Amino acid sequence: MTADLVLRPAEASDIETIISIESRGPVSKFVRPWRHERHVAALENRNFAYLIAESQGEPVGFVIFQDVLSADRAINLMRVAVGEPGQGSGKPLMRLAMRHAFIDLGAHRLWLDVFAENDRARHVYLGLGFVEEGTMRDAAQKPDGFHSLVIMSMLEDEYRALPVDAP
Ligand SMILES: CC(C)(COP(=O)(O)OP(=O)(O)OC[C@H]1O[C@@H](n2cnc3c(N)ncnc32)[C@H](O)[C@@H]1OP(=O)(O)O)[C@@H](O)C(=O)NCCC(=O)NCCS
Repeated sequence: MTADLVLRPAEASDIETIISIESRGPVSKFVRPWRHERHVAALENRNFAYLIAESQGEPVGFVIFQDVLSADRAINLMRVAVGEPGQGSGKPLMRLAMRHAFIDLGAHRLWLDVFAENDRARHVYLGLGFVEEGTMRDAAQKPDGFHSLVIMSMLEDEYRALPVDAP
């Protein structure tokens, strides 16, 4: 299912797909859904890059980068999600996203924040070579209370040093 995974630029017509993925239980637990208008504004903003991951022509996930015009070449992987977490599509999607950030967008630094309790995402990022930089304690408020965010990053030299055929 993931052998033919591709990333393509998202269009306005993809926003409902993104929102429907964001709204699924296993995803909304860790990604706070945005309203349609907020996605439209971000999609039209040249400082964002919206990409849809497709397998056999069907959307399986998405990734959104922020600060793609950063003078520091420090690009934020702002959100990533797959429609069916735990089925093996997230890691290949992330590899394509990393390639897009470092090769196509020219990132020097790719960074993200992840809820501390999001063990699966942290495992995936660590397995791909991201480095944990620290924890922003109680940085995000959700209906059930405050949550800490872990900052993770990868630098371009680290990306280029990754084995080509990493599992
Ligand atoms: C994060 C996400 C993109 C990863 O994609 P995925 O398809 O679920 O990941 P995969 O199935 O490719 O890989 C999951 C890995 O995590 C491991 N894993 C699964 N559940 C785990 C858990 N609770 N704790 C630790 N590791 C876990 C699996 O064993 C697998 O590890 P392996 O590759 O070493 O065998 C996906 O889970 C997702 O969309 N989650 C909801 C939204 C989200 O959390 N986004 C990230 C916000 S920062």
